[in-house]
Amino acid sequence: MRVLALLDGTIADPEAPLFRADDLGVMRGDGIFETILVADRQPREIGPHLDRLERSARLMQMRLPERAAWERAVQAVIDNWPWDTDPEMALKLVCTRGIDGGDGTPHGFAMGMQIGEDTRRKRRDGVAAVTLERGFAPDLMDRAPWLLLSAKTLSYAVNMAAMREAESRGAEEVIFTATDDSVLEGPTSTVVIAQGRTLLTTPPSSGILQGTTQGALFRAAEQAGWRTEVAKFPTSALFEADGVWLCSSVRLVTQVHTIDGTAIKADPELHAEITRLYESNY
Ligand SMILES: Cc1ncc(COP(=O)(O)O)c(C=O)c1O
Repeated sequence: MRVLALLDGTIADPEAPLFRADDLGVMRGDGIFETILVADRQPREIGPHLDRLERSARLMQMRLPERAAWERAVQAVIDNWPWDTDPEMALKLVCTRGIDGGDGTPHGFAMGMQIGEDTRRKRRDGVAAVTLERGFAPDLMDRAPWLLLSAKTLSYAVNMAAMREAESRGAEEVIFTATDDSVLEGPTSTVVIAQGRTLLTTPPSSGILQGTTQGALFRAAEQAGWRTEVAKFPTSALFEADGVWLCSSVRLVTQVHTIDGTAIKADPELHAEITRLYESNY
């Protein structure tokens, strides 16, 4: 099931070709995207997602269609989704730099997609993860803006290769580490750990994406009396933590039960509390 909307709000055939072969998004992965969860017609964290899309465009120095166009396309997809049979969808916003040698007019669309069984299983059962080197230092971002660390670009081939590496090691998720052995993020998720009644995550200044799901979780946790901290932490902290989660819009707050083949603390009651906190936002 797919529902595709163009930025003028018209619905298009999701099985018909949409992009030219010389579009820079196709040729070079030169573009940006967002993935938003829509539950019962409500897009979650739409403001932070659109803010992040604009930030990615600024880092990429590419033109971005106006916010109203994205909002129109989002609404068109929501209006055409079969909510009676499918109460949740993953909504992708995609924007490319446009045609190679063109005038820089960006090309974008919004597409709603069903949430796969694989994702539902990860939400339900938790995941085994492996730590993998990402190959950069946590202070690289400011020194090397051309690396686009912290932008959500279409170039996710490395992230997907890391997921295949995890599978080849008998796991289903990855936690990337920096050259100083601090924890970065997952290929499609933000890492959050619990230390007592404190939730801790890596700062975006380390060169990771600012997570909207982690932001929503921390917002609710603070209101409920948890301490939250955004600070660098070493890989060893994963093994000593009271809980480790991978947060992302569609996967939600997924509990990690095993890292590099070692079982870690994965208390089902704490997981239920963290999930309740996140859900209390909606
Ligand atoms: C690299 C990366 N980090 C973190 C996240 C989590 O972000 P969000 O919670 O906004 O979905 C994602 C989402 O896909 C991601 O691709």
